[in-house]
Amino acid sequence: MKILQHLILCCLSLAIISCGSGKTNKQSTEQTPVANKFKIKQLLEKNTCFACHKQDEKLVGPSYSEIAKRSYSDERIVELIYKPEPENWPEYPAPMVALPHLDQKELLEIAHWINSLN
Ligand code: HEC
Repeated sequence: MKILQHLILCCLSLAIISCGSGKTNKQSTEQTPVANKFKIKQLLEKNTCFACHKQDEKLVGPSYSEIAKRSYSDERIVELIYKPEPENWPEYPAPMVALPHLDQKELLEIAHWINSLN
């Protein structure tokens, strides 16, 4: 009987421990750069940027790490997404489509991420 009690106690505390650690795990991933990167990927996907841009490779448009080298401010990048200036990239034959309908807050997050690649 004692053994059974012990077993139940053991199971209970295990459940409590695993429950607790599950919670802290969730909290900590929300703040890690990995989670942030995942969020940026989602934003880029949602806003169709991936159709023309990759992080490290030239596609229809320049790679984000290439753009980061221009040392624009975050605000300037947002401006350029709203109103592209193809003359900045003469080696790309097709200009970027203007995307004036996108959310400014989301674009600022994307811009900040682009600059972090430099
Ligand atoms: C239809 C293809 C296309 C899509 C979609 C697209 N881009 Fe571009 N992008 C380009 C091309 C081509 C260039 C280079 C020529 C230019 O700036 O017009 C460019 C340039 C840029 C630049 C550099 C601007 C400059 O003047 O230096 C940034 C920043 C950028 N894109 C971000 C984005 C982001 C963020 C998204 C999604 C919200 C996006 N682009 C969607 C094709 C695209």
